[in-house]
This record gives sequence, structure tokens and C-alpha cells, in this order.
Amino acid sequence: MIRSVVLTVIFSCTSLLTVFAGEGMWLPLLLKALNEEEMQGMGMKMSAEDIYSVNQGSLKDAIAHFGGFCTSEVISDQGLLLTNHHCGYSEIQSHSTLENNYLKDGFWADSKGDELPNPGLFAKFIERIEDVSAIILEGTENVTTDAERNSIIDKNITAYKATLKLAKFRDIEIKPFFNTNQYFAFITISYPDVRLVGAPPESIGKFGADTDNWEWPRHTGDFALFRIYADENNEPAEYSPNNVAYAPKHSLPISLDGVEEGDFTLVFGFPGRTRQYLPSHAVKQTLEVLNPAKIQIRENALDIVGKKMREDAEIKLKYASKFASIANYWKKWIGESLGLEKTNALDKKRAFEKELVSRNPEVKRYLKEFDQYYSEIEPYALVKDYYSEISGRNVELLRVASITKRLLDRYENNGEDAYNGFAQRVIPFFESLYKNYDPNVDKLVFESLIEMYKENLDAKYVPAGLRGSAQALADKVYSNSILADGDKLLSLLKGAPKDAMSMLSNDAGYQLYTDWSALYNEKAATKYSAINAKIDSLQRLYMKSQMLAFPEKKFYPDANSTMRVTYGQVNGYEPKDGVWYNPVTSLGGVIAKYVPDDYEFDVHPKLIELYQDKDYGQYADSEGKMPVCFLGSNHTTGGNSGSPAIDAYGNLIGLNFDRVWEGTMSDINYDKSICRNIMVDARYILFVIDKFANAGHLIDEMQLVNPKSSNINLINPTDDGKTCCKDGSNCGNCDSSMCTPDGLCKTCKKCMKKGKPCKKHKNCCKS
Ligand code: ARG
Ligand code: ASP
Repeated sequence: MIRSVVLTVIFSCTSLLTVFAGEGMWLPLLLKALNEEEMQGMGMKMSAEDIYSVNQGSLKDAIAHFGGFCTSEVISDQGLLLTNHHCGYSEIQSHSTLENNYLKDGFWADSKGDELPNPGLFAKFIERIEDVSAIILEGTENVTTDAERNSIIDKNITAYKATLKLAKFRDIEIKPFFNTNQYFAFITISYPDVRLVGAPPESIGKFGADTDNWEWPRHTGDFALFRIYADENNEPAEYSPNNVAYAPKHSLPISLDGVEEGDFTLVFGFPGRTRQYLPSHAVKQTLEVLNPAKIQIRENALDIVGKKMREDAEIKLKYASKFASIANYWKKWIGESLGLEKTNALDKKRAFEKELVSRNPEVKRYLKEFDQYYSEIEPYALVKDYYSEISGRNVELLRVASITKRLLDRYENNGEDAYNGFAQRVIPFFESLYKNYDPNVDKLVFESLIEMYKENLDAKYVPAGLRGSAQALADKVYSNSILADGDKLLSLLKGAPKDAMSMLSNDAGYQLYTDWSALYNEKAATKYSAINAKIDSLQRLYMKSQMLAFPEKKFYPDANSTMRVTYGQVNGYEPKDGVWYNPVTSLGGVIAKYVPDDYEFDVHPKLIELYQDKDYGQYADSEGKMPVCFLGSNHTTGGNSGSPAIDAYGNLIGLNFDRVWEGTMSDINYDKSICRNIMVDARYILFVIDKFANAGHLIDEMQLVNPKSSNINLINPTDDGKTCCKDGSNCGNCDSSMCTPDGLCKTCKKCMKKGKPCKKHKNCCKS
């Protein structure tokens, strides 16, 4: 009897506690302590030092935060950078004209001189990560209020930063972890000259577009190539024609061996935001109140814009990118809610809470407070989501109004110089916004969403200006407001700020926005923030109590756009009863989805030809098929797009770009059974570059390796680039008698540089 009780307790605890292999976004500097053993047990042949080291070149030196919103990786010793097509989308778009439409037709620079600069874009590497918790939290142990605690932390951060001398383009970012229970510092180096090298046409890079987005089986070649440039000393520098290709500390070799079910995978990148440690009350609110509202708002907007896009080719062009980005999270939230329900996330959270209380009775009080705070915050959170979806996202006229208001506030509060400084950024932004703006479409969205706002929210949140018929209001605003006319607004903002002030103070659209935002701040935002501060503070205690109550469990911090490693395996999954999804797709699947001239599923004739001729070169799989995408059980989120998928040895095998629909709830509740990330197979990328685009000169820069067939030590080369053997000797002469069956030079094989023959032997054994 006792034995069975004990067993039940152990059993139920472990099932609540298990961090599945696959779950977790780990800090690279803690891998040795927390993960190395498990990773090696899963098949990894590297050490934690090979992945993250401050003393020697390691994988982390090849990984760069791309523009601060995606991930990218260096794949040649000349700074060639790989990321997703959707991450480079706006750069590709900005270089496109109707005559040279790189989105539609693709772009390939023939030589470095043809690579295209992108002002504002940067690639940021992590030089070092440090645990600075003791320094940043010093003096906070005995304080009683959060205000006091926060002010000490702010002072400590300022003081700590002041001790560091940072050269240009270097920075230190100090970020809170585990709800401010810990702090880590990231010492970074940013390269601001990043040029576009190549991109496939959208019919490859965005194949399947919104219909296939967040879905498996997938057939998208979602990649683009950039290059980092540096000055003659390999130091970061603003764009200059004199800059040269950056020589990285490490670049990823690329495996030609491909993947199969069960293979170890590691994804290295900058995941944006997850919320794994919330109480059930928060998850319930997301599931029952906030997700449904946001989904419905976007659905209404998308219905209107989609209909107009189908009716009018010009509108289709103007709204393609906006539509895709609004649809992206609309679809994600639907998948997230379905997944939370399907995996009984709420029940699991509640069971966990019960267990936590049994270990620490104090938690009972936290949960009671959460219950109270989450019900108090609910109406404000709903208004907040409505307000920001409508005025900050879906109705462009209101979005323009909000940015214009910030501009005019600068003038009032900080004077003309501040106005001019901000205007310099706002004006180009508005110029590109109005290029793709149609007031008639915007007006319909305005009318529909205002209607919805009034219908679903309490009257006290509705400003006087919104009362009455939404249609009449839309007529009035869109026929009178200067905000509906980009040319007029831009010339006003380029003139004297005083004139803009007086003009806009009588503008129907601007006035509507300012009245609404004042009411929103008074009735919702201030109250939301006050309760949210209490939730944050309680969440810190709750997080700490979870860590203390389960000392045997390994905790990973929520994503916060800092560098992380996640690892898992190539794995299919069961999306529903009786259905099994294989983890690998191939080019035959692209052809099967082909719909001539369709904007989502068209296929380029050259790709069809290569398929028909089975002209896959060295990139085909062992059955002669061309692989396209594969699935893994790596725990990823937004921001991981463009992250490298790396094999057991440290080679690139794929490029992360998405997750499966059933598993998008991984941001709140990772579940090994259905959470999968989607990657483009590296061989498809190479095939497109080489065979489709005839850009073989780019392949020549890369290091292609066969780690499965040749048992070689892949990273930490001692090589200086001239001699390739570790003992310092060079490779000797090359002739075909020296070639091994797998196409490598025998002498060279003993002294591989990063798994690749030395320069001299690069080609002699190829046949
Ligand atoms: N769902 C992926 C991510 O969240 C890809 C989005 C890009 N594609 C698109 N059709 N919007 O970013
Ligand atoms: N597609 C996402 C990104 O752009 C990745 C994801 O959410 O899984 O970062």
C-alpha cells in the first residue's frame, strides 16, 4: 500500500516535471552544466565548448542576430550570411522595381561588386555572455517594495555599464531572466554593412505563402543570402565601397549527407518571446478571452482586404506584404488555441499548481492573488488588445495618427530639434507606407473594426467621436482628414512644425485619434499597468517558488531575444488520430502542389525542368530524390527564423523558418507530441543556388562535407589557412590515386580543415 502510494507520487511528479528532450531554449554558457551530457546521449559528437567558448572559435561565432528580429549564420570564410527569405523580404522588396522585380524573379549578384547595400540593417554577434545576477541584484535582498527594488536594479545596471569601456559597434546588453530573478550580460559586436547577395524568386522562397504558412507538409525554399562587410582591419564599419568581405571567427560547414528520422539536431538563434511559467489563470484568459478577440478582429480585417485584393491586381500588389504579416499571427493564434485545448494545457497547469502547493503551501496565496489580479485585469487587457489591434495595426490611418502624435508631442515637449530628429525617421517610414496605401480599403477596415469595438466593449471605453453610425464617421474621416492623403501629410510634416500643429488640431482623423487615445489611457491603460505591475511582481515570486520547489528539475528561461540553443531530433508527428506526418518532404511535393499562375503555388519553369530531368547533382538524397523541408522536435519561436539547424558534428543541415500549426502553442506550453519546428533542407538551398540560379561561385566559397561517411573532427581547426595538417605540414601534390572512395584526398583527409580538404585539394578529388 505504502509502496504504491510512493510510486504514484513519484510517477505523477515525474510526469509533471519532465523537461522533454526537445523542450527548452538554453543559454549557451550553461550548456556544459545543464545539457552536455543529455545532448551527447542523444547522439551529439561535440562538446559544450565546441558550441560556446570565449577562448576559442566555436559555433556561436557563426551565429548573428539579423537586424534584431531574425537569426542568420555565416557559411563561408568570406562572411556569406544565410537567413530566411521572409527575414530579408523587405530588403529584397526595397531593391525591386517593376522592371527588376527581385521578389518575383529572384536576385543573384554575379560578383561582390554587384551585392546590394541595405542601410539600417546589421548583423550582431555575441562575443561573451556573463552571469551578472550578483552585481545587478546587489542590495535588493531586503527591500520591501517593487519600486525600491527596480530603482536599485536600474542604478546597478548604470553603474555596471559605466565600468566598461566599449569600442565603437560594441555594446553590452543586460537582460532579466526568470522574471528578474537573474540577470545576464551579453557583450555584442555589430556589423552595419550587410549586403544582399542572392534570393530565389518568391515562387521558391515563399512557395505556399499563407495557405501553407504554419503547416506541414511544407515545400518552401525560405532562404536568402547576404554578406557581411568590414573595414580593411576586419572591424565593423558603416557602408563604404572600400569595405571588404568579413573574415569570421567561425563559419558553418554544410553537410551533404542530409537527415533521417531520429538524427540529432541543434538550433542556434535568437528566440523572441515565450511564456512557459504562467499560472493557469493567465493561460485561461489567453485561451478564452484574448485570443478569440484578436482572431476575430484580424479575421474581419483580412476578409475585407482579401476581397479587395482578389478584385484588383494593384491592390493585391500593395497589400501582399501587409496581408501576409497580419495573417501570420491570425493563423498562429488559432493554432495556438487549438493546441492548448488539444493538449489539455489548462488541466496540466492546474495539476502542476496543485503539486507546487503541496511542496510549498505559500504558493496557495500566490495563486489566490493571481486569480484576483487576472480577473481584475481582464476588461482592461481586452480593451488594450482591441485598441492596439485597431489603432496600432489594422487601420493605417490611425496608425499614422499615433506616430504623428508622437512627433508633435516631441515638438511640444522637447522643441524643434527633437521634432526634426524624429521627423527624419518618420518621413521615410510614411513615404514607404503611403506607397502601398489605399484609402478606400483602409476606410472599409476602419468602419468594420469601429463597429466591432463598439459592439463588444463597454460604452465607457467609447469616445464621443466614435458614437453614432460608423459608416457616417468613416465617410467624414476619409473624405476630410489629411491623414488619408499621403502627399499632403508628408508636405505638411516637411514644413514648419507649428503649421502641422495648427492644421492637425482641426483634422477629423487626428482629433478622433487623440480623443480616443486620451480616453484609452485614462480608462484602460493606466489601470492595466497598475495591475500588471502587481502581476509581474507576483510572477517573480511564483517563478522563484517553482525553481525552489523542484530543485531536481532543469529550468530554462523564457525567450527574450537573447542567444539560445535548443536541441532535439528529426521527428514526424501525429496531427490527428490515425494520421502520421513523415518528417521529410521532397521536390515531387512541390510539383504536386503546382497551380499555374497562382500567386501562392506557381512553380518556375526552370524548377520543373530540373525536376523532370532529375538534375540534382550532388544534392539528391540516397534514393535520388531532391529533399526540400524537414521537421524536428526543437523548441523554437518567432525570432528563430533563419536559425541554423546543426548536426551532431557542427555542420549546417537546415535552415529553421516555421513551426507546425498544431504545435504553435509551444510558446505557452511545449508538448513533445505535437510541437515541431520546420526547416529547409540545406541540400535544397545548395541545389537552388547551384542548379537553379547557376551561382556556383557561391557554392565554391562554402565548405561542403560528408560527416556521416567520413569520421572527422570538424571544428576547432588549428589550421592557419596555408598549411592544413595539424602538424603544420602541407598536403603534398594531388592526383587521382590519392582520392578516397568518398571523394576526398587521402593525405588531406588526415588533416581536414573544418571537415574540408585544404584549398589545394578542394577540387582534385571531386569526380
Ligand atoms: N510563420 C512563419 C513566422 O512566423 C513564417 C512567416 C512568413 N510567411 C508568411 N506567409 N507570412 O515568421
Ligand atoms: N516564423 C517564425 C520567425 O519568423 C519562427 C516561428 O515562429 O517558429 O521567427
